[in-house]
This record gives sequence, structure tokens and C-alpha cells, in this order.
Amino acid sequence: MCGIVGYTGFQDAYDIVINGLRRLEYRGYDSAGIVLEDGNNKLEVEKTKGKVEDLVNISSQLKGKAKIGMGHTRWATHGVPSDRNSHPHLSNNGKLAIIHNGIIENYDTIKTMLTEKGFTFKSETDTEVLVNLIQYFMDLNTETDFPTAVRYALNEVYGAYAITVMHEDYPGVLVVGRLGSPLAIGIGDKEYFIASDASPFVEFTKEAIYLEEGHMATISLENGVDIRTITENSKIVPEIQKLKLSLEQIEKSGYEHFMLKEIFEQPKSVHDTMRGRLLVEEGVIKMAGIWDHIEKFKNANRIIIIACGTSWHAGLIGEYLIEEYARIPVEVEYASEFRYRNPIITDKDVVIAISQSGETADTMAALKLAKERGAFIYGICNVVDSSIARITDAGSYTHAGPEIGVASTKAFTAQLTILSLIALKLGKHNGNLGNADFMSLIAELDAIPKKIEDVLSSTHELVQDIAKDFINATNFLYLGRGYNYPAALEGALKLKEISYIHAEGYPAAEMKHGPIALIDENMPIVIIAPKKGHYDKIVSNVQEIKARKGKVIAVVNSGDTQVSQMSDYVIEIPETSECFSPIVASVPLQLLAYYIAVYRGANVDQPRNLAKSVTVE
Ligand code: M6R
Repeated sequence: MCGIVGYTGFQDAYDIVINGLRRLEYRGYDSAGIVLEDGNNKLEVEKTKGKVEDLVNISSQLKGKAKIGMGHTRWATHGVPSDRNSHPHLSNNGKLAIIHNGIIENYDTIKTMLTEKGFTFKSETDTEVLVNLIQYFMDLNTETDFPTAVRYALNEVYGAYAITVMHEDYPGVLVVGRLGSPLAIGIGDKEYFIASDASPFVEFTKEAIYLEEGHMATISLENGVDIRTITENSKIVPEIQKLKLSLEQIEKSGYEHFMLKEIFEQPKSVHDTMRGRLLVEEGVIKMAGIWDHIEKFKNANRIIIIACGTSWHAGLIGEYLIEEYARIPVEVEYASEFRYRNPIITDKDVVIAISQSGETADTMAALKLAKERGAFIYGICNVVDSSIARITDAGSYTHAGPEIGVASTKAFTAQLTILSLIALKLGKHNGNLGNADFMSLIAELDAIPKKIEDVLSSTHELVQDIAKDFINATNFLYLGRGYNYPAALEGALKLKEISYIHAEGYPAAEMKHGPIALIDENMPIVIIAPKKGHYDKIVSNVQEIKARKGKVIAVVNSGDTQVSQMSDYVIEIPETSECFSPIVASVPLQLLAYYIAVYRGANVDQPRNLAKSVTVE
């Protein structure tokens, strides 16, 4: 969602802010803006609906003018995407500028109060209310300095925010605060960077402070970084982290899109997820997070998996895996439903949160609820040190590397890999999975990266040809059974989010209970039909589709004949255990969605209306 970049130092702030905003484009946004302090204690703002390049077109006169500034990419919440609603917002006296990620829930009440005091508003945003509240506190008592006024204001608001504020009478100073939305401070040599994640400043410094929940910081060239709690104003000694992120990881490396790069990275990312954990020759799975809390898992009444979107699909496959191999009951919940439905949670429950970004607001809130009610919380996150990773009791990182494309690909297969490791480890430990089966399953899991590599090379061109035939499709059905039912849901989500073609995933057997009514010669149906896993039943489903002239795109195992003969298009993947087949089968489905979207001219890395990390509910 919204992206924040700030800079104070000796370099040209314009270049750093604009390049930083380009790095944050992946988060999803609809408008962009910049404010600089021009060296004469005057704030200069440019902002526009549209992309960062639109901002560049109207703001290049600011280049070279300032050593301090900040910029924003906005994903609209309060008020439509427009020039007026774009950030930065100025206070009524024009002295303060703010950029904000999140939602101020009580902005209306504060706006009424400020309006009664004579303040006026140019935008419909909650953010403009906050900057005027800061001015209000400075006006109220002229002794109140800028950081103190920010603190007073933050104590009056509730909701979620990451903010950066500048004041024209405080040259070189940035004040930041955080509650619920991430914010990183890059520490350079006589310069400081602010950003929603470290990608905007990774080439300048490898040292960063991740601001904690409920903390604010005053950053100045003179006094460095002064961190305080927002409520108590207590001083905090910051923990400076060494960044592992490299520039190469956040660049396209010759691929046309990040999504394609990330699809092709999967042999490596799945391997990286298993690295140091799956030791086939020793016949063990080493996972400290699980092992250190093995009694919690062993004695759990049930495991509740909480997630959203693609991560929720991974959770469904996790349910199949854990119930099959560890025989522990599992429930999978949408975080957004769980948090509001007063669920029964006890201290005998283990909650597993799955989140690529580790910042999803609904998942975060659901976890807090589960924690309050005594559950043990385990996290599966890709982003190291993310908010979810920090509030969990224990967890496993997926180590898939930064995922920039909004459509999740390598993070999904990494999540499936972690869930496979967890299920097999728990099953082996609690005796539900015998040694011979365990050994054969871990050997198969170990072979998955090579199978993904084979699928990528054998299906890449074929899938492009298939995609060309469906660029004008208006609907798609995706069907699968067992482990591949969630894989069908995921295939459908990939297509709809980047190509804007309506697509639904179903368990194949559910077709007869409704969706079959949609099938005619214009309906493409992607069916996942590996040999292991209800193959005979799938054969019948394909017959039923063909009897109604549906167009079948079948994902089958190499050498398949029965389903292949009946299908209009056949994509072959190598055979593997049913439980791992979604990892392999998802790859051609990602490619299919990708190429259909590309041929339709869609912006695959930044699909309309979507954000990479959904930091508001
Ligand atoms: O970062 P998270 O895994 O918590 O994100 C959850 C969803 O927002 C995410 O998976 C979303 O559905 C993706 N756009 C799917 O490609």
C-alpha cells in the first residue's frame, strides 16, 4: 500500500526521493507526491494522480534544490485518487508537511474540532487532519516544539499509521512515527533515509533501524536518531540491524517483469527454503522454531492457520498436509473473518500465521486476538523482521528472497515447502509417519527444485502459445481435487488479479453443484489432473466438461494418456507425491496467468487497485 520515502543529508534529496518511490512502486498506488525544503526554509510540494513518472514530469524543476525531502505513493482510502488527495499534505499555515501510510480512524471527530477552531481542509483525507492537529498543538503553546507537537497529535489519534513530517522552521529534521504500518530508518554517514522498507536506500547503507510499534523518532543531522515511545516519551536505545538485502535482488535482472523473474527463481527459492532444514542423507528435518516448541505442537488440541489471499491458499494445503501426516486437527481461517467473529480460542491451540509480507493488517489483528486469548502463535513469513514475524512466539522464515511483483508466486511455493517440512517433522515426531514413508517423502521433497526447473524449461513456450488463444476470454474455471483443489483456487486468483479476467477455482466434484451450468464452448477450464490423487474421478469430471463442449486445459503428469486425449490443451509436469504436486503444478498456472495478462497489455507487476502489502483492513 502507500509508500514512504524521506531523506536528510548531503545528497540531492530530489533524486533520492524519486528513485526511492520508484523502488516502492511494487506496493501498489494511484498517486504520487514530493516535498522538499528548498534551502530557504520554504517547503515546495508537487503531487499528482498517476504514476511516479507523472510526478517526475511535473517536478523536475525541484532537482538539485534541496538536501532534505520526502515523497509518497498513495493507495486511496479516504477520498478518490486525485491531485488534491495525494500526499504530501500541508498544514493550514503551510509550515508543516506530512506523508502517511494507514488510516486515522477518528479523523472525523478531530476534523470537526479543528473546523470549529477555524481550520480549513483542501482534501478529503484523514492525513490532512493529522498535519493540522500537529499545527494546532504548536499554535496552542508556542513553547511546544515540532517533535513534541507530533507526539501530542499521535496520542490523540487511533488507527494505523506510519508517518513522516517536516517543518520549514526545523531545517534538516524529519519526525517519524509508527503504529501498525512499517517504517525503516537507514543510517548513512552524515545522512539518514526513511522508507516503508529498505529497498529505497539499500545502495547507500546496509545499516537500518526498524521502528517499533508505538515509537516515534526525531532524525536530524545534528543529533542523529532520537527514538521515544509515543505514549510516555521514554527514550529508547535503537537496535541497528545489518541489511542482507542486495540491489540485485530488487532489480529485474533482464526479465521483462518482476513476476516473470520471480516465477523463474522458484527452483532456487524452494531450495533456499529447505536449505539447512532438510537433511536427506541424515534423514532429518531441522527446524529450530518447531523443535523448541515441540510440546506445544504435540499437545495442541488443534492448529488454526490464519492468512489472507494466496497465503490462505497455502494454508489450505497446509491443512491437508498436517492432518494427513501429523494427524493434528487443523482449521484454516481468513484473518479478516477470524478477527471479527469472536472465535473460540484456548491456550491448547496453536495458531500458525502465514504472510509473505508479514504486514497484512487483518492477519496482524487476528494474531493479536489469538495471542490475547492465550494461543501459541507461530509465524511463516517471507519478510525478515516484519511486524507479524515480531509478534509471533516462534516461526520459520520462508527465505524466498524479496517478492516485488504484486502477484505472489515464489512466496507461495516457499510457503508450501515450509508447510511440507512442518507436517513431515511433526508426523515423524509424534509417530504418525513411519520412518520408511518419512524417508521417501523427504527424498521427494528434496527433488522438487529440479522438477520445477524441468517444468519451467519444458512448458514455458507451450504456455505462451496456449495463452495467445485465451486473451479474449471473459471467464475461466479452475478445477482440482484433494491437494490440488487449493492449487486451483490459487491458479484462478493469479489469473484474475493480473489479467482482470473473471476466474473461479472449485473442487472438481463441486462442479455438478452449480458451476457446470456455466460450461459451454466458450468456457475455458483449467483442470489439474496428476496421476496420484483421485485421477479416475478427475477423468469423469473431464468427460462431463467435454460433453458440454468446454475447452479443457489439462495439467497432467508426463506420459499421461487418458485425460490428455480428451483435453484441448495439455501441459505436462513431472510426477511427484500428491502432497507436493501443488508446488509443481502451480508453476505452469503462474506462467499461464502471466502470459495472458501480458498479451492483454496489463501491468502485471502492479495490477490495478491492488497493493503488495495490505497494511489497512
Ligand atoms: O503478505 P501476505 O501474504 O499476508 O498477503 C496476503 C494477500 O494480500 C496476498 O497473498 C494477495 O492475495 C496476493 N496479491 C496474491 O497474489
